[in-house]
Amino acid sequence: MENRYRDLVSSIRAIPDYPKPGIVFRDITTLLGDPRAFRRAVDDLVHPYAGTKIDKIAGIEARGFILGGAVAHQLSAGFVPIRKKGKLPHDTVRIAYSLEYGVDEMEMHRDAITPGEKVIVVDDLIATGGTAEAACKLLTQMGADIVAACFVIDLPELGGRKKLEDMGIDVRTLVSFEGH
Ligand code: PRP
Ligand code: MG
Repeated sequence: MENRYRDLVSSIRAIPDYPKPGIVFRDITTLLGDPRAFRRAVDDLVHPYAGTKIDKIAGIEARGFILGGAVAHQLSAGFVPIRKKGKLPHDTVRIAYSLEYGVDEMEMHRDAITPGEKVIVVDDLIATGGTAEAACKLLTQMGADIVAACFVIDLPELGGRKKLEDMGIDVRTLVSFEGH
């Protein structure tokens, strides 16, 4: 896929051999620290949904909180944090998901979504899609109507986008990197 967002691409720092040899880590802290790039990323993520009624943005801990909060503000939507287990104080629903090594669990407050609410899922990056898939399942269980899942970065070789699309979810990504 051709990257239409060259300014965004150049604002994302590539860190070779992190967290382990052979992996190129895509570091968005440089994008977040660049006022133009941060605004551009948020504006471009929300662009297709301007004028659509979106009730909630569900942001995935941790980097999805930063982008998701900004997206929620821009769309005048509420924000729902999807957190790693044990962080939320009220009654939660929880789901296990696969990581590269082993499994973890994420959760959200049971009362965070009213059935039928229109929700957009936001995270910084989609790789294998395991994280976003789990978040979408949790939201669907709670009756959310998932309008889309939005990410700044896609690593298409890892198949996450396809995984969500196969679940019937509309996926929006801005930049794509081959290799990982
Ligand atoms: C990274 C990234 C996504 C997820 C993508 O988060 O921010 O959330 O991995 O991977 P996947 O598509 O293969 O599931 P990470 O788990 O490193 O946590 P963090 O955002 O809290 O740093
Ligand atoms: Mg993350």
